[in-house]
Amino acid sequence: MNYKPSETRYDNKMSYKYCGNSGLLLPRVSLGLWHNFGDVDDFSVATDMIRYAFDNGITHFDLANNYGPPPGSAETNFGKILKNNFAAYRDEMIIASKAGHEMWPGPYGDRSSRKNLMASIDQSLKRTGLEYFDIFYSHRYDGITPVEETMQALIDIVRQGKALYVGISKYPRQQARVAYEMLKAAGVPCLVCQDRYSMFTRAVEQGVLQLAGEYGCGFVAFSPLAQGLLTNKYINGIPEGSRAARATGFLKKEQVTDDKISAAIKLNELAGQRGQTLAEMALAWVLHNEYVTSVIVGASSVQQLSDNLAALNKLEFSSEELAGIEEILATVQM
Ligand SMILES: NC(=O)c1ccc[n+]([C@@H]2O[C@H](COP(=O)([O-])OP(=O)(O)OC[C@H]3O[C@@H](n4cnc5c(N)ncnc54)[C@H](OP(=O)(O)O)[C@@H]3O)[C@@H](O)[C@H]2O)c1
Repeated sequence: MNYKPSETRYDNKMSYKYCGNSGLLLPRVSLGLWHNFGDVDDFSVATDMIRYAFDNGITHFDLANNYGPPPGSAETNFGKILKNNFAAYRDEMIIASKAGHEMWPGPYGDRSSRKNLMASIDQSLKRTGLEYFDIFYSHRYDGITPVEETMQALIDIVRQGKALYVGISKYPRQQARVAYEMLKAAGVPCLVCQDRYSMFTRAVEQGVLQLAGEYGCGFVAFSPLAQGLLTNKYINGIPEGSRAARATGFLKKEQVTDDKISAAIKLNELAGQRGQTLAEMALAWVLHNEYVTSVIVGASSVQQLSDNLAALNKLEFSSEELAGIEEILATVQM
């Protein structure tokens, strides 16, 4: 493959923000590989999306051990794309992975034990062909494993040189505080908290965002487009090939509800008045929150990625626009 990255990849298209109190800049728009990078997907489209992302200043790629399907295949495919295209550009990339959801059979392939994390990171490094991850996350608080056990594993992963920074994902406030305190005391401060945040899912506004801020931890929002519901995609029904239509998609048909669709129609009109698509406005709205470092978008085509990057052209909102959005969101069951 004769890929050569665009020489203008850092020329004003992307903006970057420091991740919490760290010295690490993250692009405001990052790319996630949860869907569309597995063995069931088109490898050439996946390659084109990573190339397009990198050519447009997206330096941050978000993986997890279980992404696929089948689980593990997104890491394997990303590793191949990396080797074939980006071998000379590793130092320009922030590559993240995670462990904590079901991955292999038996009692150790799931949840957040030290056993699971230590085995997982070695497997993930092998699949991607990397020497280290830039960020390694505990993918979830599992409700059983003591937070101290999981955090000690993350601390040791950094000390072993297998990751540069660590993060937590989907930790309730109480457990997040324990994690932040322990990581700080060990001199391995939590770089980033990753959680679901979009116009349709706002639970993190009830303290998770503020707590991350209190500890100087950055925040990256996943599913900022509510898996596609906050685009004009579902306005006229569920299109063929969309995530809600695909058997392997995590967006279930039942989640495409009437209240969300009628809100999306109204939000789409409001976005039009701002000169944006609904996807652009939905991303701008998340990025507008002071605690948010970056949005991790998913995409099934280069065109979608290109639309999503256009969000950066207009991140400001007037107070009337924000009030109009709140009025529409008040009609949605969150
Ligand atoms: N920490 C965690 O537990 C966790 C959980 C979930 C996700 N994540 C991370 O967050 C990333 C993003 O999540 P997500 O994929 O749910 O994000 P999302 O951006 O909310 O949804 C992405 C989907 O929306 C549709 N879409 C995107 N841009 C569009 C556009 N401009 N116009 C029309 N449709 C568009 C596409 O669906 P179609 O396929 O229908 O085209 C795309 O696959 C994941 O890849 C993963 O890295 C983390």
